[in-house]
Amino acid sequence: MRTLITGGTVVSPAGAFPAEVLVDGETIAALAAPGSAAAGPWRESADELVDATGKLVLPGGIDAHTHMEMPFGGTFSSDTFETGTRAAAWGGTTTIIDFAVQAKGTTLSATLDRWHQKADGNCAVDYGFHMIVSDVSETTLKEMEACAGAGVNSFKMFMAYPGVFYATDGEILLAMQQARRTGAMVMMHAENGIAIDQLVARALAEGRTDPVQHGLTRPPELEAEATSRAIALAKVTGAPLYIVHLSAAQALDAVTAARDTGQNVFAETCPQYLYLSLDDLGRPGFEGAKFVCSPPLRPAGHQASLWQGLRRNDLSVVSTDHCPFCFREQKELGTGDFSKIPNGIPGVEHRLDLLHQGVVAGEISLARWVEVASTTPARMFGLYPRKGVIAPGSDADIVVYDPAARQVLSAATHHMNVDYSAYEGMEVTGRTDVVMSRGRILIEGGEYHGEPGHGRFLKRDLCQYLN
Ligand code: URP
Ligand code: ZN
Ligand code: ZN
Repeated sequence: MRTLITGGTVVSPAGAFPAEVLVDGETIAALAAPGSAAAGPWRESADELVDATGKLVLPGGIDAHTHMEMPFGGTFSSDTFETGTRAAAWGGTTTIIDFAVQAKGTTLSATLDRWHQKADGNCAVDYGFHMIVSDVSETTLKEMEACAGAGVNSFKMFMAYPGVFYATDGEILLAMQQARRTGAMVMMHAENGIAIDQLVARALAEGRTDPVQHGLTRPPELEAEATSRAIALAKVTGAPLYIVHLSAAQALDAVTAARDTGQNVFAETCPQYLYLSLDDLGRPGFEGAKFVCSPPLRPAGHQASLWQGLRRNDLSVVSTDHCPFCFREQKELGTGDFSKIPNGIPGVEHRLDLLHQGVVAGEISLARWVEVASTTPARMFGLYPRKGVIAPGSDADIVVYDPAARQVLSAATHHMNVDYSAYEGMEVTGRTDVVMSRGRILIEGGEYHGEPGHGRFLKRDLCQYLN
């Protein structure tokens, strides 16, 4: 199957240029000057023509932080690998990296097997795994090396959630020492969970039970403190560190300072921290539960710092931390006790569109949009140049994006398996037009042509940014 994409503007981190793209089978065969391929032998040999006139041609989005079917707070996130990856495809994300979750008392290899059982044969787009390490033992540390052999060489640890995922500083240090030996990445949920639990207990004892208390009991200082501590532990061990879902300006300051010294510290933020705020958590009644995630949404003043961090590359990646829980019956588990609201916000479908609003508003360039949404995640997590770039030999994961289309985000029209949208009623400019995964068109003409099982597991290499 050969597909020729004509008339579009290819966007890469280096800029935007008009080009025609020839796809042969699962990979990109060639790029050609505008008009040259459309008239020549390529045109004759193409089985399909995609007219991208007036549109942008992007490498497929890579969402490096999702949670499909994740066990949390006595329930599971509501998207399966099947529904979540289909929604990802609708939004132009053609690769996800999801988190396998080690339960206490279990091994990493059993965890990996379990996550393969969930995902294999069910995904609409390609997928990889990170590993959440919640039980640091001799066995776990040894298994980290075997995980790398299985294409999983990034390990998330938690300074939050005591009694569940929490790791002590000593355990983090041991895991970092092990990561240093193999070149693996430690990913950190950086919030001081011990202090937070005290603030939560006090709030509940005083009868402050509304969703907004979730934000008020997790102040930015406790994200910044944990971020600084993680950076110090990474420095002592020499391990690379990736701060996940960074939300607070003070935490970003800590990352910036470390990067300025040349330390291998990286960070991601998420659309919810760029567009939503503590005010949403404070919506009347129990409505704020829709916005409970950790770290929490911050006062809107933090958003300008995050955009600046994205421009300066102190924030290198935008992922969604997609972790959907239905409002009815799941978020409602926390009625009368905010600490029981399952943590997480849906978003895998809307990352490219939401970030594109940053382009429209002049916060980031087109090139930077593609870089933080596709190219850098590919490099950060060992997928480049197979993914993250439109170049000969790369997988033909391609999005034809209409930058002028208008759409209104809503639970009534989204494809995620969740009964609300955190962005309900938000009008955005831009929309995916055609989405291709390894040469196969998944979305075209407002219709879905994908299927579960098209997506393949990606064995990833090491981070390509280490100095
Ligand atoms: O609230 C969040 N972020 N839920 C997902 C789990 C995590 O910590 O990433
Ligand atoms: Zn986390
Ligand atoms: Zn997460």
